[in-house]
Amino acid sequence: MTTAESPVENAYWVVVPAAGAGKRMGADKPKQYLPLNGKPLIAHTLGNILGWPGLKGIVVAIAADDTEFSTLDCAQDPRVQSVTGGVERADSVLAALEYLSERDVPEIPVLVHDAARPLVSTDDIQKLLAAGPMALLAQPASDTVKQSHSEDGREEVAQTLPRNRIWLAQTPQKAPLGKLREALQRGLKERPNAITDEASALELAGFHPELVAACRSNFKITHPADLILAEALLQHRAVTSSLENNL
Ligand code: C5P
Repeated sequence: MTTAESPVENAYWVVVPAAGAGKRMGADKPKQYLPLNGKPLIAHTLGNILGWPGLKGIVVAIAADDTEFSTLDCAQDPRVQSVTGGVERADSVLAALEYLSERDVPEIPVLVHDAARPLVSTDDIQKLLAAGPMALLAQPASDTVKQSHSEDGREEVAQTLPRNRIWLAQTPQKAPLGKLREALQRGLKERPNAITDEASALELAGFHPELVAACRSNFKITHPADLILAEALLQHRAVTSSLENNL
């Protein structure tokens, strides 16, 4: 089948970088394994992704010394594979893309999604899938945005930026497998410090990914207070219908 409605044509892979240490949480284990309502954070994220429409499979990048991933129930799902990640997030994503390049065509869409964002809504995923071939979920700035400079060791306001054009990049970030792989390979070689997400590599390659506004639940669990907020939102979702999971 080759029509626009074809499930094959609309299919995509998801790459989940989960090889980081998550030091900002100050915990004794990587943040993806911290308990959230009794289950490891990454199990919530993968369980969420496994319900996305059109999913072909998930490739999770895990640390070389990870002994926990293979014990998770969700890791036994035949649609979930793992690869060894790298030193930086971009290296981990690239390892997963290399794995996929041996198994699928360069045109297949790939969505890269942080293990630490368990609460992205299915509505937002639908919007991202319907957007252009290169697109990312992002949060329009709601606070007034200041740019700073350093003065005698203190940060001072240098200027106020017009916030109607400021977005905070989130994940998933979507691009065709071949173009994303090339952009990351080139970006990591030429300007490794500038590659902080997939879109930044695509921008360096001359592309302009589309920004898709996400609902506020798609925050990245980074600090201890984020875990408490995520637990409350998960409990709220458990008692409301799936149609209302757009908080
Ligand atoms: O540290 P931060 O929250 O920015 O990491 C974002 C995601 O990238 C996390 O899911 C983390 O596990 C992953 N990561 C990775 N490989 C690294 C560093 C981070 O897969 N070397």
